[in-house]
Amino acid sequence: MSKVTVVGAGNVGATCANVLVTSQIADEVVLLDIKEGVSEGKAMDIMQTANILGLQSRLTGVTNDYEKTANSDVVVITSGIPRKPGMTREELIGVNAGIVKSVTENVLKHSPNAVIICVSNPMDTMTYLIHKTSGMPKNRIIGMGGALDSARFKYFLSNALNANAIEVEGIVIGGHGDTTMIPLTRFAAYRGVPASNFLSEEELAKIAADTMVGGATLTKLLGTSAWYAPGAAAAQVAGAVLHDQKKLIPCSALLDGEYGESDLCIGVPCIIGKNGIEKIVEFELNDAEKALFAKSAEAVHNTNAALAGAL
Ligand code: NAI
Ligand code: 2OP
Repeated sequence: MSKVTVVGAGNVGATCANVLVTSQIADEVVLLDIKEGVSEGKAMDIMQTANILGLQSRLTGVTNDYEKTANSDVVVITSGIPRKPGMTREELIGVNAGIVKSVTENVLKHSPNAVIICVSNPMDTMTYLIHKTSGMPKNRIIGMGGALDSARFKYFLSNALNANAIEVEGIVIGGHGDTTMIPLTRFAAYRGVPASNFLSEEELAKIAADTMVGGATLTKLLGTSAWYAPGAAAAQVAGAVLHDQKKLIPCSALLDGEYGESDLCIGVPCIIGKNGIEKIVEFELNDAEKALFAKSAEAVHNTNAALAGAL
């Protein structure tokens, strides 16, 4: 029996729980929120959907009752405040650091062996905070950002190529921020053929730029940050752990010399399996890509510096 706890029953958390249940990724899901009744209501609604669809996964909503989360294999942390139009992810740090730290302490009391997937923003910094404060082994803490950013990259690529989304490949590394993420256009492919055979340099540059502000574009349209793809991306990472898929997914991982960086969490290609981050895959970056990665890492280090009080 696989069990996932999703903390935060807001837009992203509830969507993640919905995908975990309706795609039957987990046998048992607990959705926890601090707000009275919200997780219970959303769980009931999702379970009634499961009934219509004839699905077996079970979802329970709870208000701050961590005992019900006991023995989870995976915990997805989405609790915290989201962006409003014009806000950066970094501006959320003060409020979200306190929430993420206390939620992590609570979940680990009942699920000491869980793999934690951090979604709350600024995600790279919140993932680093969990590393610094929890004492967990580094492979069991995964930051979800690259899975989403890569999906957005593939969306823009497939539109430009007039192709089906599953026919294209694209990977985004670096920080999960409008100016820090690095869509690797050189590695983008259409049916295994480099995308540069079909798209001009200008077209690829536009796809990369649209990807980088993909979250901000949605925040402007929706009045708050997006949730369908973020929730599904978190469920995808959870599924890779639960089913030991050994899938290559770009995730925020604690680096210890990989890509020339240390003591920060940032997006890199990872093999995700039952132990969490089982391997960090080091691509051969060219000089321009290396420079972008170093700049991105510097920006993430600077954001991490704002954590001083929380550590
Ligand atoms: P939301 O406001 O819809 O939901 C957040 C939920 O967290 C609320 O229901 C709130 O009651 C709950 N919460 C707050 N403090 C809590 C606590 N101590 N314990 C339990 N629950 C608590 O926000 P949304 O849109 O779901 O976003 C959640 C977070 O995810 C935000 O920080 C957002 O920026 C981030 N995000 C990250 C993405 C990524 O790719 N890493 C993508 C999209 C959003
Ligand atoms: C997103 O990328 C804001 O991190 C959030 O949609």
